[in-house]
Amino acid sequence: MRKELSDKLDAEAPLTPADLRELLLLKEEADLQSLYEAAYRIKVKYVGKRVNLRGLIEFSNLCTKNCYYCGIRRDNTHVKRYRMTLEEILREARWADEIKLGSVVLQSGERSDAEFADFVESAVKGIKEISGGALGITLSCGEQNEETYRRWFNAGAHRYLLRIETSNPEFYRRLHPADHSYEQRKNCLALLKKAGFMTGSGVMIGVPGQTVDDLVSDLLFFRDQDLDMVGMGPYIVHDDTPLAKQFPDFAAHKEDQLVLALKMIAVTRLFLKDVNIASTTALQALREDGRETGLLAGGNVIMPNITETRYRDSYQLYRGKPGLKDAPENGMTALKKMIESIGETIAFGEWGDSPHFRNKSR
Ligand code: 5AD
Ligand code: SF4
Repeated sequence: MRKELSDKLDAEAPLTPADLRELLLLKEEADLQSLYEAAYRIKVKYVGKRVNLRGLIEFSNLCTKNCYYCGIRRDNTHVKRYRMTLEEILREARWADEIKLGSVVLQSGERSDAEFADFVESAVKGIKEISGGALGITLSCGEQNEETYRRWFNAGAHRYLLRIETSNPEFYRRLHPADHSYEQRKNCLALLKKAGFMTGSGVMIGVPGQTVDDLVSDLLFFRDQDLDMVGMGPYIVHDDTPLAKQFPDFAAHKEDQLVLALKMIAVTRLFLKDVNIASTTALQALREDGRETGLLAGGNVIMPNITETRYRDSYQLYRGKPGLKDAPENGMTALKKMIESIGETIAFGEWGDSPHFRNKSR
């Protein structure tokens, strides 16, 4: 790494788009280590040596959309569709509360019918009720209208994740059918913030056709959107999708995909400093220690899957999703061990809001 650039990182000087680009293009092992270490220092300084957990409940894989990269897209007829009942969701949330996860994420495929809006609203209310308000609730249920977002917020959800997938509108159009709209997705982020949500977004990293300049523009997008949370992960092929054809030798590139994703996490930390950044399960799909590596590269949030084991097979956005057969308890034990092994502590029983949101609201 050029001395001027590493000095800039040490001094926490503002990074220009050219700097971001240069960091994303680093290749030498020693440079990558310096990059991760610099990002880790910033993480420790701004969010501490602590990992926040969110218990992930994948409550339905019904989806009305048809994104070209995703395994549960509407046209994939190989998927067994399911939706959990309210009781099943509450059972998992109760367990999350008992083991002091502090917060849960309700994630699903996208639907925009009235029944769905009602269902999510009652699930949010139910979780608040059974936990006596203790559990923080994040929603990740796609694009909705303003009223639905408001209702869900008023029911007690306070964070929302909606990935932009790519900040390049032209590239977005190549990854989605004609009736999926970049502008609408972006507008939803505005509606979420207006409704009061702590808002998270993110992109897929290493998608065929994506350039390093796209990633730089993604970083600028995160900043300009004033995001509180960033959730990003490597693109991973799912063979039942149209995009898979564009990456036929994916298996030979797993390590490259992992490294690119880690670099993006590190550069996001260096650039945005006080936001929550997820170390996503997709990292672990590429390498067993992917999630810990993500923490050491600047991530501070892990979303352990607490979905009942029997549904996990049917919620594969990409191939090779880890923990398909694990019981939630076993996954948690392994996770605790892993986090302790890298010298970090789990922030049990906390909502774990991003310092960025707190700093803003003052
Ligand atoms: N590889 C990696 N991430 C994917 N997602 C969907 N399909 C894939 C894939 N093949 C991500 C999208 C979506 C999130 C829920 O999962 O970014 O927003
Ligand atoms: Fe549906 Fe989300 Fe998959 Fe797109 S990425 S097909 S909206 S679940």
